[in-house]
Order: sequence, then structure tokens, then C-alpha cells
Amino acid sequence: MSVQRRLIIKGGRRIEGEIAVQGAKNSALPLLAAAVLCKGQTEFHNCPELSDCGAACRILSSLGCGCRREGKVVCINASTVSGSAISERLMREMRSSIIFMGALLGRTGQCRLSFPGGCEIGSRPIDFHLEAFRQMGAKIREEHGCIECSAAKLRGAKISFPIPSVGATENVMLAAVLAEGTTEIHNAAREPEICDLANYLTRCGAKIGGAGTGTITIEGVKELNGCSYTVMPDRIAAATYLCCGAITRGEILLTKADISSLGLIVPVLEQTGCSIYGFGGDSIYLNARKTLKAPQSIRTAPYPGFPTDAQPPLMALCATLPGTTIFVETIFENRYRHVSELTRLGAKINTEGRVAVVEGVNRLTGAELEACDLRGGAAMVTAALFAEGTTKIGKTCYIERGYEDIEGSLKSVGADIRTGN
Ligand code: EPZ
Repeated sequence: MSVQRRLIIKGGRRIEGEIAVQGAKNSALPLLAAAVLCKGQTEFHNCPELSDCGAACRILSSLGCGCRREGKVVCINASTVSGSAISERLMREMRSSIIFMGALLGRTGQCRLSFPGGCEIGSRPIDFHLEAFRQMGAKIREEHGCIECSAAKLRGAKISFPIPSVGATENVMLAAVLAEGTTEIHNAAREPEICDLANYLTRCGAKIGGAGTGTITIEGVKELNGCSYTVMPDRIAAATYLCCGAITRGEILLTKADISSLGLIVPVLEQTGCSIYGFGGDSIYLNARKTLKAPQSIRTAPYPGFPTDAQPPLMALCATLPGTTIFVETIFENRYRHVSELTRLGAKINTEGRVAVVEGVNRLTGAELEACDLRGGAAMVTAALFAEGTTKIGKTCYIERGYEDIEGSLKSVGADIRTGN
């Protein structure tokens, strides 16, 4: 049996220095899908080198698009899209491949893929996506674990979501830009990644209004042409590194990071006693040398609320702050899987359903952990930087899905972190 490679972190070192933040995974994935809609060449700059982005590029190639990466630039040529089916193997590689549905329906009038199923943090239903496509005239068959969609020509519709959904909002945008007539999305997600997608599509010739608000209007056009576009900075990676700076009571400068996209993360970190400033829309400075204390309560919510993806790394920070923090995770039903691993380090955390009560301790001690999902793994790395002694984190493949070289980034700011077994 191959010995598992693990992240090995010796805690207790103060983080001090500068990290350039990667391009946003949760923007790059819908952008890569959107390129299917555009005739000609698209170049995405600042596209993060992540396993999920690699999977999306393999899907693009399987659909007959040209797709090649040169460093942080991904070039896509979707002049011809010869396929409309995503293989079971590729769907299993990345459940968020569901985001290709809208683009395939919009470009080819059909798509076939296997049900994405749930993942580590929840059941991840796609009913909002399918209901919206039906409203736009698509015929959808679900059988034998597959979804088959077809629509001679999608037509604009008035779509209302019961709750904001990032993926469903993005999928409808992708289906609507080449549809006949106008589509309105009500109770749309307002995340910054939605605006990034709208900006790219608009530059390709789409007519979109209201992105970033709860109501988005899309007027279908005949054709879209590719363009060159730079992926926005990853606000969750930025939040994670800020938590790493704070948990070690250090100071960190993030470049290629936009503080305006961090939403409630900033006031929450200020509540702990951190000083945090944004410079010129592309840098964020945090200083945690003062005495910190636990924030009282964190309730995750759709943007501009506190982002669910930042809940795990923030929880790791709160586990080391004097006081008690109440977390309420309102988005996903199984997003406390990191708690049992953090308690192995000595954290005092009790959960009951969607609620987690974190009682800060002044000491954590290294242990052997296993990542269980992407952001849970990031929480373990964060906590390990504080823990006395050595922590070994296995199943780092989860972490690599969303963090580009977390080892190199943290090492560059003073962490004692390496890969080994
Ligand atoms: C996106 O997932 C992100 N992923 C997630 O990031 C993020 O946590 C989530 O948005 C919320 O911000 C990508 O962008 C690739 P949703 P998505 O649809 O689109 C329910 C990470 O760690 N829902 O906004 O799948 C759903 O169950 C990942 O980077 C339905 O009920 O999330 C959830 O409770 C994790 N039916 C809520 O909506 C649907 O058809 C919000 O989910 C769709 C969603």
C-alpha cells in the first residue's frame, strides 16, 4: 500500500510576511464552463492551478474544445463544440461539473451527465437548476442516475429561487445568455463570483443587468465571442490565510487580494481584536499582535452574510481565543466534520445539529489528523500552526482541490510546514 503523503506542521511559529492570493476557484469553475458558449478563443488569466480546474479543463477537452494551460493562463477555443455529454468518470472527479449544464444547453441545445450526487458537506441537491431549465423550455429525463436535457431553443423565463443558490444562479445565467427573449432571476445569489461571471459574459457580448443584486436580468443574444479575462482573487483563500496570520498572533500582507469581496469576514476578524486594512483594492494587511478575544456569534448566510466556506478556518482561530463563540451553519447540513479532528488537538467544541459551541483554549497539542473536506482540511492546517509540537494531516487531496500550494505559501511566511509521511 502506498504510504500516504501528509502535510507535517510544527506549530508555534508566528506568521509574518506576504502571500500573493490565488485566483478564485469558485469563479474559475463557472468561467471555464462559460467559455463553451463563446465562439473563438478565450484566455483566462490568474486561473488557479487546482485539481478542480484541471478536471474542468478535461471536461472542456472531452466536449471537443481546445484547452491548454500555460502557467496561470488557460486558453480555450470553443469554435466548435462536438460533444454534449460529460462522462460519469469526469462527473465523479468534480460534482460541481453540474455548472456545465447551462452552457451546454445554451450552446448545443442538449446535455447528458450523471447525477452529481452529494459530497462530504451535504446532499447538494440540484432541484433549483433542473426546475429553472424546465421553465426555460428544456425537456429533462432523469433515469439510471443520468440526466438528459434537450431544448431546441431555450426561451427566457421568470425564475425565482426559494433560497439564493450560487450554482443555480450561475447555471441559469449560462443558459439564458443565448436564449430567445429575456430571463429574470429573482432571489439570485449575490456572491462576488456571480459578478465575475457576468463581467466575463458581458465582455463576450452578453446583455446582463443586476449581477450582485437579488434580481438579475439577461436579454438573450445571437452569439458570443471569446475574450481575454482575469479571474478575480480567491476571497476564501484570502480569509484562510488571514486566519493563519491571526491564530499565530502574527502579521500578514496579502497581495492580489480585494478586501471589498471579504464581506463580513473583516468585521468578524476586527471583533477578535485584529487590525485589518485594505490597500488600493489589491492588498490586505492584518496585524494580530494585540491580545485577541473570541467573537460572540457567527451565523453563515448567503453573501453579503458570513460565507460558509470561511466557517471552518475561522472556527480553528476561535478555538484558540479566550471566550466562547457560537457558530450557526445555515447553508450545509454536514459542515462540522472538521470538529472531531480539531478536538483531537485539544479544541473544546460541542455541536448540536447546525450549532457549534466553541470554548477557546490557550493550548493545542499536535496530533495525527485526516482532512475530510476542502475547508475542513484548511481548518486543520490553521489550527496546526498554533498547536505545540507536530501535526500530521492526511488526505491532503481535499485541500489541494481549493488551495494552490498552501505548503509553499505558508512556508514563505515563516510556517514550519512540509510534505512527508
Ligand atoms: C457554491 O456551491 C460553492 N461552490 C461552495 O463552495 C459554496 O459553499 C456555496 O456556493 C455557498 O456559497 C462553487 O462555487 C463551485 P449553493 P453551490 O447552490 O453552488 C441548496 C467550497 O468549499 N440548494 O449556493 O453548490 C444547497 O443545498 C465550496 O469552495 C438546493 O436546495 O451552493 C444549499 O443548502 C463548498 N437546491 C444552498 O442551496 C439546489 O438546486 C446553497 O447552495 C441548489 C442548492
